[in-house]
Amino acid sequence: MNFKKFESAEKLRGGYYTPADLATFLARWVSKISPNRTLEPSCGDGIFFEAINNSKLSGEIVGFELDEAEAQKSQERAQTLGLSRVNIRASDFLGWALEAMDDKTERFDAVIGNPPFIRYQYLPALFQDRAQAIFDRLGCKFTKHTNAWVSFVLASFELLRPGGRLAMVVPSEIIHVMHAQSLRSYLGANARRLIVVDPEELWFDGTLQGAVLLLVEKKKKATDYAEGLGIYPVRGRDFLQFDPEDVFNTPQSINGKTVEGKWTRALLAPATRELLDELIATNLARRFDEVADVDVGIVTGANKFFLVEDETVQRFGLQKWAYPMFGRSEHCPGIIYDDEQHQANASSGKPTNFIWFKDTSVERTKLGKQYIEQGLKESLHTRYKCRIRSPWYAVPSVYSTEIGMLKRSHDTPRLILNKVGAYTTDTAYRIRAKEGAAEQLVYSFLNGLTALSAELEGRHYGGGVLELVPSEIEKLLLPPPSKITPEIDELDKAVRTMSMDDVLALQTKRVLGEVGLSIAQQDELLSGWQRLRNRRHRVSSEAT
Ligand SMILES: C[S@@+](CC[C@H](N)C(=O)[O-])C[C@H]1O[C@@H](n2cnc3c(N)ncnc32)[C@H](O)[C@@H]1O
Repeated sequence: MNFKKFESAEKLRGGYYTPADLATFLARWVSKISPNRTLEPSCGDGIFFEAINNSKLSGEIVGFELDEAEAQKSQERAQTLGLSRVNIRASDFLGWALEAMDDKTERFDAVIGNPPFIRYQYLPALFQDRAQAIFDRLGCKFTKHTNAWVSFVLASFELLRPGGRLAMVVPSEIIHVMHAQSLRSYLGANARRLIVVDPEELWFDGTLQGAVLLLVEKKKKATDYAEGLGIYPVRGRDFLQFDPEDVFNTPQSINGKTVEGKWTRALLAPATRELLDELIATNLARRFDEVADVDVGIVTGANKFFLVEDETVQRFGLQKWAYPMFGRSEHCPGIIYDDEQHQANASSGKPTNFIWFKDTSVERTKLGKQYIEQGLKESLHTRYKCRIRSPWYAVPSVYSTEIGMLKRSHDTPRLILNKVGAYTTDTAYRIRAKEGAAEQLVYSFLNGLTALSAELEGRHYGGGVLELVPSEIEKLLLPPPSKITPEIDELDKAVRTMSMDDVLALQTKRVLGEVGLSIAQQDELLSGWQRLRNRRHRVSSEAT
C-alpha cells in the first residue's frame, strides 16, 4: 500500500505535463471540426494553448486549473500567444462540471487535455464526493479504486455536444483496469468511433505510468451506429507528421464484446481474435473454471512473523509448528516443488517455514512463549486479520493443494506441482484439478493459448508485472487437460533452463499440437501473446 504522506506534491496533483508535439497532434485533430468552443479541463502551465495556436484552432477556449500558480502561467502563456478568447478558471473542474451538466447551455464542440492522474484515496474528501457524483450523474457504476482521470474524461465527454470531439492523453490503463470499466462501457455506448493511439515506448519521463492518446467522436444521435474501438499502434513519433484524421480513420474498428469489456482484445490482430473465438466455439479451448478450482492462499496477517527461515525455527524451538511453504518466484524456479527444491531454498536462507499454531500449546514452552511475546511487542495482535481470531496467532483456513500458482509473473503465469504438500500464502493461489490429473493440468497450462488469455484477462501496473485475481484465472483458456500426455519432468527442466519464449514455443507445439491445432494456428497464438507481453514490458523511450 502507498501512503499519501510519502507521495510528492507533483504526484498528488497529478501534474505530469504533455510534450508539445503530442498536444499539437491532438489539437490538430479537433480543429478539423472547426470548434466554436473548446474545453481544457486541467490546463497545468498551458501547453495545450501552445498546441491550439500551432494548429490554428479558433473559437473560445475554457480552461480549468486547480493550482493557482499554474493557472496563472497558463493565462500568461495564452496572452503571450495572442489568444484573446481564452478564459481560465483557477478552480476545480469537477465541481463546475457537475453544475454545467444540469445547465444545458454549457456545451463544448471539443475537449483537449491530459487529466490529472490521482488515486481516489488521495483526493480531498470534497473532490472524492464530486468524482463519485459524476459517476452517479451518468448512471455509471462507481468504485473507490477509481482515479481522478476517469471522472475527468467522463465529465468532459458528457459536456460535449452531439458530434463533438474529445482528444486527450490518458493513462494506458484505460485499456484494461477494472476501475475504468464504467468509462469504457460509457464511451462504447456514446461514441460514434473511438481510437486509441498506442505507443510502443513510454512517452512520459518521471512516471512509470504509460500513456495513450484517446480520440473520440460523440454520436450525433443516441440511435446512431457505433463503429466501436480501433487501436493505432505507433513506434516512435513519426506518426505526428501524419494527418490526424487519417490516424483516426485508419484502424479497423471492432465492436461487441471487445468494447463492452477490457479493450485488450482490440490490441490483437483480427486473425488472432477470430482464432480465439473459433477455439472457444469448437470447445478446443476450455475455461479454467471448467477444469479446476482456484482459491486464495493462506492469509497470515503478518507474513514476517509466520513465514520464517530455518534459523528462526531453531532459535525459538518452533520445529513442532513449522510446515513447508513457498510463496515467491525464487522459491520455485521450475514447475515442480519437491523436497529437493525445498531443501535448496532452506539452505540458501529463504523463509520456507510456515508457522502454524493451532492452539495455545506454544506458550507452554519457554522459547515459544518468547516468540509470541515478540509478536505482541510488535503489536501484531492488533492487526485486523490477527485481532479477529483467537488466539491472535492461530492462522485459519490452512490447507494445501496439489497445485499452486503465483499471483504475479513476468512473462506468463505457470502452475506449480506441489509434491510436498507445502502451504502457500497470499502471494499465491491454491488450485485443484477437476478434470484430469494434477500433472496434466500443470503441464497443459503452459502454452501459447493460455499465455495469451492471461494477457487478455490479467492486469498490470507501472512495473509491467502481470497479475491475475481468481475471477480472471477462472476465465483463462486452455486445451482440455485430460487429453494431454504430461511430460512433467522434462517441462520442469525446460522452465529452469530456457527462456519463457522458448519454453512456450516448445509447449505450444506439444500441447496444442496434441489437440490438433495447426502450426499456423499455434504461431498465431504465440505471436498474439508476444505482442501483448512486449507491450506490457515496454520501456520508456528516454531509457532506450
Ligand atoms: C496531467 S496534468 C496536465 C496539465 C496539462 N493539461 C498538460 O497536459 O500538460 C493535470 C493537471 O490537472 C490539475 N488538476 C488536478 N486536480 C484538478 C481539478 N480538480 N481541477 C482542475 N485541475 C486539476 C493539476 O494541477 C495538473 O496541472
